[in-house]
Amino acid sequence: MEKTRTVARMAVVLLGLALAVMLPEAGATRWTVGANMGWRPNFNYTTWAQDKHFYNGDWLFFVYDRYQMNVLEVNSTDYESCNSDHPLHNWTRGAGRDVVPLNVTRKYYFISGKGFCFSGMRLAVKVENLPPPTAAPINSSASPTYHARIIVPAAFAIGTLWDAFIRFW
Ligand SMILES: *[C@@H]1O[C@H](CO)[C@@H](O)[C@H](O)[C@H]1NC(C)=O
Ligand SMILES: *[C@@H]1O[C@H](CO)[C@@H](O)[C@H](O)[C@H]1NC(C)=O
Ligand SMILES: *[C@@H]1O[C@H](CO)[C@@H](O)[C@H](O)[C@H]1NC(C)=O
Ligand SMILES: *[C@@H]1O[C@H](CO)[C@@H](O)[C@H](O)[C@H]1NC(C)=O
Ligand SMILES: *[C@@H]1O[C@H](CO)[C@@H](O)[C@H](O)[C@H]1NC(C)=O
Repeated sequence: MEKTRTVARMAVVLLGLALAVMLPEAGATRWTVGANMGWRPNFNYTTWAQDKHFYNGDWLFFVYDRYQMNVLEVNSTDYESCNSDHPLHNWTRGAGRDVVPLNVTRKYYFISGKGFCFSGMRLAVKVENLPPPTAAPINSSASPTYHARIIVPAAFAIGTLWDAFIRFW
């Protein structure tokens, strides 16, 4: 009797710890653009992005040849026409590894300058607000979106990071 109660209490504590560890991951997926292909010509970033949900608080991670390409944020007109003459923001830091915070709920448009946009190096992402129910731990085990939102992206992020690690170091 006493023993079962202790076991049950320990299970609750462990579950709480597990949730505490997982929750900070909830709003923060770091997407490696193009996954293990990175940011390069002749890759369709529209196809790469179309089955993904980008949430406010996520990041994009661009990995590329720093001697050739760059990462420029432009408006929709310049995205369509591959015009890099007046970027809204130059995210290029020089190492060929640029992290862009997606911290506003809106559409973002990125291109590479130096002519590479014309070879397919352009990406449009629509950043959404996090779906509200994910914040309620009491109900969370009943909610399928909770698992999809936290465990799958976490596993995916680790996988893509590992891919990037293997490929680029
Ligand atoms: C990329 O794929 C999208 C659909 O996923 C298609 O509409 C578009 O034409 C493709 N772009 C190129 C340059 O092939
Ligand atoms: C994008 O910027 C260009 C140049 O500043 C401007 O001519 C164009 O109207 C802008 N497009 C949008 C959709 O704001
Ligand atoms: C973007 O910033 C980098 C690093 O500061 C700089 O070398 C590069 O010339 C800039 N590119 C554009 C198009 O402004
Ligand atoms: C989003 O991030 C950029 C770059 O770190 C920062 O300059 C900007 O103030 C942030 N915006 C918001 C709304 O947090
Ligand atoms: C749990 O979710 C149900 C509906 O799915 C709702 O009726 C109930 O109030 C929620 N309980 C808590 C503690 O949020």
